[in-house]
Amino acid sequence: MTIKTFTKNTAGLLVAGAAGMLLAITLTACKSQQSLTGSWTATGKTLENGEQQKAILELKQDGSQLSGTVRGLGFQTNVKGTVNGSHFELFGVDWNDKKPFLVGDLADGKIEGTEWGDKFVAKPATPADAFPTPPYIDPPALHPVPYNGLAKTPPMGWNSWNLFADKVDDQTVRTMADAMVSSGMRDAGYIYVNIDDTWEGVRDANGVLGTNHKFPDMKALADYVHSKGLKIGIYSSPGPRTCGGYPASYGHEEQDAKMFAAWGIDYLKYDWCSASTIYKDQQLQPIYQRMGDALHSTGRPIVYSLCEYGLGSVEKWGPQVDGNLWRTTGDIRDEWESMMDNIEKQVPTAPYAGPGHWNDPDMLEVGNGHMTDDEYRTHMSLWALTAAPLLAGNDIRTMTQVTRSILLNKEVIAINQDPLGKQASPAKNRKLETWVKPLKDGNVAVGVVNLDSSPGTATVKASDLQLKGSVRSARDLWTHKDVKFANGEYSATVPAHGVLLLRVSVR
Ligand code: GLA
Repeated sequence: MTIKTFTKNTAGLLVAGAAGMLLAITLTACKSQQSLTGSWTATGKTLENGEQQKAILELKQDGSQLSGTVRGLGFQTNVKGTVNGSHFELFGVDWNDKKPFLVGDLADGKIEGTEWGDKFVAKPATPADAFPTPPYIDPPALHPVPYNGLAKTPPMGWNSWNLFADKVDDQTVRTMADAMVSSGMRDAGYIYVNIDDTWEGVRDANGVLGTNHKFPDMKALADYVHSKGLKIGIYSSPGPRTCGGYPASYGHEEQDAKMFAAWGIDYLKYDWCSASTIYKDQQLQPIYQRMGDALHSTGRPIVYSLCEYGLGSVEKWGPQVDGNLWRTTGDIRDEWESMMDNIEKQVPTAPYAGPGHWNDPDMLEVGNGHMTDDEYRTHMSLWALTAAPLLAGNDIRTMTQVTRSILLNKEVIAINQDPLGKQASPAKNRKLETWVKPLKDGNVAVGVVNLDSSPGTATVKASDLQLKGSVRSARDLWTHKDVKFANGEYSATVPAHGVLLLRVSVR
């Protein structure tokens, strides 16, 4: 059985990502089923807390067209596709995937096929297979949550999800914390060590959420991380389940916030996930406010990271619920198209970034192996220019010298951490995209990204930089060399998908 993760796209639907929760569908036959229309049930993998993942497919066949939903514990996605004879193919709505993720054949009232390449057999669902519907809890009335005083510059750290997904455990976090120190990451500003989904156990009779076998003692782990001069983050959802299908904070917000504070948690990523099965996008603000209030009332400074895939114009109200950062996009994948797609989606949010509250185009993939070094330098440069949170998503313990040189480039980090907190916006000139970020000292950072798959010549013109004086000096932040503007401009060759990143000082 293959492991797959359902993650979200910008439309708020859950989409299949690279690794994680498995949905291996095991279904049995029902001879009477003649059409794909109907409800089909599937059992999935056993989660780390001993619970069973399962899925329901609600399908509607209209001639050769097929549509519907796929829902599991913690996720739901709309699907569409086609039927040809007994064969069908399904895509996630809005995923823009080139290949169908679910294909199969209907025969003798059962579906046999593959989901993400894994074989499955499907049987018609009965009412007993339906997911339980928890009692509806009204969203609270809107009111501003006081600012927690944190994240005056974009948060920096490491997060377990991009590389480890459900494989993260206590030992991984401890050794990663060690590596954050020995690699110099901590001293470069990467302070938060964040545990993402799959740490959760089950709730006991008093509603207390335990950890699963991978995290035997969260308080002891937090103490360990703190002893290294680092801070620790955790993850939950405002819905009943996390995206991975684990118990989440719905109806237990205050209780969970208190527990996080008692453990010594310093950062919470709060992921919409199954909240979409209860609330509408228009209710995001009060629902996120509820946890903002709960965190605030613990009295512990906890960075509040809203993870809602850019839904509901979050950038307009994020600060009012005391969000320190909020996702502007669906999940990043370790590939050029995904990375660039995420950064383009970040563009309209530029006016809303500033000290204490940041637009988050998702975590870094630098060092995870599926982009070129030039592409990773572009990735890091764009995250720096757009004042995005810098949460490394690679294995810090084993990173190569090149990965180190990218993540630990202090001149690039300084652009990201500039106290003015401005988010760069791009201007496109054919295959070159120029991003300009004003800095607190009156200087500017400028990045020219080569979108082409062959080298190109980037020219930076001083007249395009809205400088408050003439150019005094300029420095290439990847070659670490000073460069000279001549006749008001500077040109350099930029490799395919590479970047020229300058810090330009004015007189
Ligand atoms: C969602 C988030 C990811 C990660 C997973 C965990 O997809 O967007 O960043 O947290 O959930 O299940």
